[in-house]
Amino acid sequence: MTVLTLPAPAKLNRMLHITGRRGDGYHELQTLFQFLDHGDTLTFQLRPDSEVTLFPSLAGVADEDNLIVRAARLLQHHSQRPVGADIQLRKQLPMGGGLGGGSSDAATALLALDRLWELDLGLDRLAELGLQLGADVPVFVRGHAAWAEGIGERLVPVDLDTPWFVVVHPGIEVSTPRVFNAPQLTRDTPPISMARALQEGPEAWRNDCQSTVRELYPEVDDALNWLSGVAPTLLTGTGACVFCRLTNADEASSILSRVRSGWTAFMARGCNTSPLHQALGLF
Ligand code: C5P
Repeated sequence: MTVLTLPAPAKLNRMLHITGRRGDGYHELQTLFQFLDHGDTLTFQLRPDSEVTLFPSLAGVADEDNLIVRAARLLQHHSQRPVGADIQLRKQLPMGGGLGGGSSDAATALLALDRLWELDLGLDRLAELGLQLGADVPVFVRGHAAWAEGIGERLVPVDLDTPWFVVVHPGIEVSTPRVFNAPQLTRDTPPISMARALQEGPEAWRNDCQSTVRELYPEVDDALNWLSGVAPTLLTGTGACVFCRLTNADEASSILSRVRSGWTAFMARGCNTSPLHQALGLF
C-alpha cells in the first residue's frame, strides 16, 4: 500500500467548563467531545526518501509550522525511519473555528503515516505524541466521543445521542490564546460530574468561553443571537463557530437555507466513532 486517502473530521464541544489554570498557562477543563461526519480530507503518498511535502499550503502558515507536517516530522524523529510522504489536503474546516480542524488533520497524519510507514505504534503512543502537537489532538487519535479532563487529554469514552447539527461560521478567525488569556474569562469554578454533564440539563449546556468570545468578537455575538432565535445554540471550543442541535435532517436543512449571506454554514450528524477510525477499520 503506497497511497491512503482519509477523513479528518470536525469535533464539537457539546459542553465546556473551565475549572482552573495550570502554572504553564494552560487551562484545566471539562468537556464533552463529539465528532461530526464532516471535515477535511487528506491523501498520503509514500516517498522513498525522507521528504515531506504538503499541497496546497495554508495561507499564512509555513508548511513546517503546519500541524500536518509537524506530525510527520514527529513520527520520523520518533521512529528513526528515513521515509517520507507527499500529502494533499482538501480543506473544508475553517481555521480558528473551534471545530478542531488543525488538530484533526494532525491526528489523521499520525494514524495514516503510522500505517503507511509500517510503524505500528498503537493508539496509546500516538495519542502521547499527539499531545505534543496540541491539547485537542489526543481525542482525534483515540477516535471515540469522550468526556475530557486535564487540558483535554484525560479521556473517558462516552456514547452520546447522535442528533443533526447546524454549524454556523461567522466568517472570522478566533485566536484561542487571546480568549484563554482574557482577564474576564471565568476560571476556577467547581468541577461538575460527568454524570450530570451527560444528563444534558441546563448545567451541562454551557461553554465557559462563550461570554468572553461574545465580547471580543462581535461577529460571533451576532451569529449566536441569530441562531439562538431558531434553536438553543452554543459556541464550540473558543469559536468562531456556533451550533444548534436538531432531531432530524429536514429541520437542519430548513435552518441552513435561511442562514444569513456572508456566513458559511453546514449541517452534519454527530458520531460517537470517528469517521477516520471507521475508514481505517479500527472499530
Ligand atoms: O494546545 P493548543 O496548541 O491547541 O492550544 C492553543 C492555546 O490555547 C494554548 O497556547 C493556550 O494558550 C490555550 N489553551 C489553554 N488551555 C487548554 C487548551 C488551550 O489555555 N486546555
